[in-house]
Amino acid sequence: MKIVLAYSGGLDTSVAVKWLAETYHAEIVTVTVDMGGTKNLDAIKQKALNLGAVNAHVIPVKDDFANHYILPALHANILYEGRYPLATALSRPLIAKVLVDVAEREGATAVAHGCTGKGNDQVRFEVSIAALNPKLNVIAPAREWKFTREAAIRYANENNIPLPVNLASPYSIDENIWGRSIECGVLEDISKEPPEEIYQWTQSPQKSANEPGYVKIGFEEGKPTSMDGKSLGFATLIEQLNTLAGKYGIGRIDHVENRLIGIKSREIYESPAGVVLTEAHRDLEALTQPGEVTHFKQILDQKYAELVYNGLWYSPLRDALDAFNQSVQRTVTGAITLRLFKGLAQVVSRESPHSLYSYQLATYAEEDLFNQHAAKGFIELFGLSTKTFHQVKKHQKLPVS
Ligand code: ARG
Repeated sequence: MKIVLAYSGGLDTSVAVKWLAETYHAEIVTVTVDMGGTKNLDAIKQKALNLGAVNAHVIPVKDDFANHYILPALHANILYEGRYPLATALSRPLIAKVLVDVAEREGATAVAHGCTGKGNDQVRFEVSIAALNPKLNVIAPAREWKFTREAAIRYANENNIPLPVNLASPYSIDENIWGRSIECGVLEDISKEPPEEIYQWTQSPQKSANEPGYVKIGFEEGKPTSMDGKSLGFATLIEQLNTLAGKYGIGRIDHVENRLIGIKSREIYESPAGVVLTEAHRDLEALTQPGEVTHFKQILDQKYAELVYNGLWYSPLRDALDAFNQSVQRTVTGAITLRLFKGLAQVVSRESPHSLYSYQLATYAEEDLFNQHAAKGFIELFGLSTKTFHQVKKHQKLPVS
């Protein structure tokens, strides 16, 4: 039997290489998916081979991730529960796809991942794998073995598994170019402010520059294509914006979120580019669409965020929502300038050939072209049903509520 394991090089997935080989008398093939930002890929590959993996793949997917996962999510302005840009959630369907591809190429009958039974990621992986190849068995060692962290360390020592250098770190971290997530340790005490040490992409707002900075993001049909006038590939733009906005302390999120499986958990995220681009995209989209489209889309956008969070990336609903979003993006061309200062990114200027803002309609100055007389009749009809209702109530001597 051959098992393809999603491998990060950390404690749990390293233990899993040995544990799966022993428990299932299987050959283990590891897959490390490079979404940008992962260091020491060669060392991770070598470590898997040293642990006895028969093959260790490293698959670069950064551009695919940016263009086919982050971009449709940006078109939907997705923020789970209004705050979380969904970096981890968006990466899971792509990792699942890579796992399935490698399993098919390697002739494996099962795939394995390192998720516990308490989180969302197990759902995202398994729903995606089942959608892409329902014949593959899925094994979740961490869910089966119920090792505590101490027991995993003991197992590692007994089996000559080198422990990661950062083992002293009490935090569980997941990261890709769209954001970083930090869990565990002292963060599980929701009454405590997170220690500064957990943040790695963002400067503390207190220590950030005392003068504001500005950034201008150019969009073409909903896709960010330039930063301060310079054309950039999407993944590169995200990376450069992470560095810039991070310097101003932008992108820190601390919230208690609802996991799909029913647990409320305290989550800390850093997503400087995610926060800035979502703000900019939403603003430009709203400027170039009639209000009724924007208001209706907000309902769909919330649905999109839930669907991604809940692991339903490969659902027909996402396809259908993408088709709607694609149609709306046709006008989302132009540029948005944001002011970056002490943890806050605020839109301060907009330009677009599709802008529906009309100075002559909005102004109170002499150039005003709006016909104020038309408002009177409009209000009369607009309020007619409410007025009629109250007249009937009054007639019946019922109290006004
Ligand atoms: N709560 C987030 C989510 O469900 C992030 C989980 C990331 N995992 C981690 N070990 N930090 O998408």
